[in-house]
Amino acid sequence: MKYNFDEIIERAGTYSVKWEQAGGSCLQYQNPDQKLPFQIADMDLPCPEPLIQALHKVVDHRMYGYSFASAESRYAQSIIDWYKRRYDLKINREWIICANGSIEGVNGAIRAFSNVGDGIMIARPVYGHFTECIEEDTYRKVIDCHLINNNGYYTMDWEKFEDLCSVPTNRIFILCSPANPVGRVWSKEELKKIIAICKKHNVLLVSDEVHCDIISKDTKHHPILTMTEDYSNIILVTAINKTFNTAGLICANVIIPDPCLRGIYKKEFGLKLTTPFSIGALISVYNDCDDWLYQVNEYIEGNIDFAIAYLKEHLPGVKVRKPEGTYILWLDFSEYGLTPEEIHSRIYKTAKVILQDGTVHDPIGGGQFQRMCVPCPRPILEEALMRLAKVF
Ligand SMILES: Cc1ncc(COP(=O)(O)O)c(C=O)c1O
Repeated sequence: MKYNFDEIIERAGTYSVKWEQAGGSCLQYQNPDQKLPFQIADMDLPCPEPLIQALHKVVDHRMYGYSFASAESRYAQSIIDWYKRRYDLKINREWIICANGSIEGVNGAIRAFSNVGDGIMIARPVYGHFTECIEEDTYRKVIDCHLINNNGYYTMDWEKFEDLCSVPTNRIFILCSPANPVGRVWSKEELKKIIAICKKHNVLLVSDEVHCDIISKDTKHHPILTMTEDYSNIILVTAINKTFNTAGLICANVIIPDPCLRGIYKKEFGLKLTTPFSIGALISVYNDCDDWLYQVNEYIEGNIDFAIAYLKEHLPGVKVRKPEGTYILWLDFSEYGLTPEEIHSRIYKTAKVILQDGTVHDPIGGGQFQRMCVPCPRPILEEALMRLAKVF
């Protein structure tokens, strides 16, 4: 079926984090007093029809008791088939561990494979919540191997990465692949180099690939497990949440091929219950929703192209590079010569557009940046861009 992603669906009163923060109504988006939110990585676009039918089926059963995914063989099979079909990756059933969200999966790895006070490496600018995982959830230390910004195209600092990996207390590298917020889809060569350096220094590589299916048409994502046959220090975290806009169902999967790693992880992590809704959802989206995903990717890429063209014409001082993957724009306001507070005030207070301050993802270097998630109906995006243009 053909989806109409221009349709504006009301989210007020539906507990949406994004729209609660905006304090109002999507349908009022043209009202200048209505704040427009782009800070959270979920979509304001309708979910796939087969998914909606699958969820109805769960509802109609009239019982929603304790549930675990491993009791349903189609759950693992759907993941196996999805990865084989889309990425030519062969996953074995026993490698799969269901988690209540990717963050829980990442936290499990940190707890299982490091000690309080150990260093956990990340490459900022990177998804700000990793910092909370490391510092607040598990009491480890953030070790930042800062990316190099080549005119908006971010790359690893290889020398620094190798140096940091060689420190024995730096136990884990959390790779964001594709990278939120900088939009990189790491190349085969980059991934192989990361794997080799981690292996050489006995660092556990945790690859968070929750953004892997939202990708520009000229790009290909490579799951980390397709880049090597030596799985002895690699964990893949994946989810249906970003791809199919099901973050509210909290359904993620941790894939651990190595039996020894998996044993340690499971001991730390225990058997996680999930909901019948997550199980039904995953089976549906991984089997029946390719068509929706194709259309949503096209629509999102259209939004990205539209936003970049608009910014180029009306806000040429904002530097932005087209992301290779994700639905996230990483906007650089440094040409305006303003303080981070002035940038924030113009956007959030005067334009009434809610983005996310760059410091969330890069506390030291992010002051001139704002993150904008654009998987929304185009009229709302257009209104927000018009407001931004007026205040700069
Ligand atoms: C890189 C990355 N990992 C994890 C998450 C959170 O995922 P989940 O809702 O599955 O915990 C996000 C959400 O934006 C993300 O961008």
